[in-house]
Amino acid sequence: MMSWIFGLLALAVGIANIAWKRALPLPLPFLLRPWVAAVLSVFAGACWVGGSEGYSVDPSQVAHISAGSKQQIAVLALALAGLALACVAFASPSSAAQRRPKKMDFRGRWVLVTGASAGLGREFARQLARDHGANLILLARRKERLDELQAELEPCGVQVRSLVADLSKPADVEQVLGEILAGPPVYGVVLNAAVTYFGPQEKLDPRTFQTLLDTNVASVVRFASVLVPDILNRAASGGVLFVSSVAGLQPAPYQSVYSGSKAFMNHFAFGLWHELRGQDISVTTFAPGGIDTEMTALESFQPLAAWLMPAATAARLGLRAFQRRDYLYVPGFVNQLGALLTRILPRRFVTALIARAYRRALEATTH
Ligand SMILES: NC(=O)c1ccc[n+]([C@@H]2O[C@H](COP(=O)([O-])OP(=O)(O)OC[C@H]3O[C@@H](n4cnc5c(N)ncnc54)[C@H](OP(=O)(O)O)[C@@H]3O)[C@@H](O)[C@H]2O)c1
Repeated sequence: MMSWIFGLLALAVGIANIAWKRALPLPLPFLLRPWVAAVLSVFAGACWVGGSEGYSVDPSQVAHISAGSKQQIAVLALALAGLALACVAFASPSSAAQRRPKKMDFRGRWVLVTGASAGLGREFARQLARDHGANLILLARRKERLDELQAELEPCGVQVRSLVADLSKPADVEQVLGEILAGPPVYGVVLNAAVTYFGPQEKLDPRTFQTLLDTNVASVVRFASVLVPDILNRAASGGVLFVSSVAGLQPAPYQSVYSGSKAFMNHFAFGLWHELRGQDISVTTFAPGGIDTEMTALESFQPLAAWLMPAATAARLGLRAFQRRDYLYVPGFVNQLGALLTRILPRRFVTALIARAYRRALEATTH
């Protein structure tokens, strides 16, 4: 009986290890660490060898048990499977645990924040200046907003540069990249600027789609392609933070193109993480759920307002993940649970739940 319990527990810990590491962007809880599966497997094995309700191993019984029952073999298989799963989880890149030893240190270094004129980007900039002493390159289209933020942050004792550019325009992208490369080394890059579309796909006009694609996808790839080599050349141990969304972890109907653009970003960032593994740079994907910003200030988002996280909280958690050089980080317990469930439950079921909530929000606000 005890061997069954230990065997099942070892298997459960092994499965939890895999699920947690693949889906949940958090460090493993103490009781789910792979060594716990190993200890449970040893206990199960000891009980199996003992063939009794205890931990003691009686070598005299080994021969007797080696011809043992199928049940005992099953117990051992369970325990070994748990151990094997825990080992696989231990060796695989995890969402949070695959960290590099040295944390990022922004003090006195230059960090670029795209989309710094509002919402999450503005909070990233504020916290980078106030709490981390980073020099900032602020980028967005609204110059007056950037000027205001620059005036707010310079008294923190940091240097601030503002770059006005429309990231949906390739010419603007090339121009600001040229200005960034001509300036001091950039240590951190926060690729945050993005736009969304919330509504039925049939009502999305081609120009809005093209703007979304150019801003959320094309400019992100271009910035990463140019700035990653620059960080490697000029700013030792720097990093890139991809500001994605939980909408990129599973389909989000009525935000289908936005969701697709964030799924692209996730795959791009995860791929890059592997390509750059072992080099002196980190790649972090930050995937928040709903945040209280201009993006969600649209009337159609209001029925979902209760789910929104304050921008300052999201920025603090995002910067912490960036500093720790996490692989993927989803902030907030509900979002983390959602990320786990999307891994475990059938995709169509999860997508139907999201579709229902979004459809209701749209119907409630369509006049
Ligand atoms: N809000 C949410 O619920 C939520 C949830 C998950 C993930 N996110 C992600 O978080 C990031 C920030 O979103 P947010 O909620 O803070 O959005 P937001 O309040 O709408 O701010 C978007 C920022 O991006 C800039 N931007 C937009 N289009 C641009 C363009 N073509 N060129 C240059 N800058 C541009 C805007 O500045 P200008 O208008 O001045 O150019 C603004 O500073 C995005 O990547 C978004 O996908 C948001």
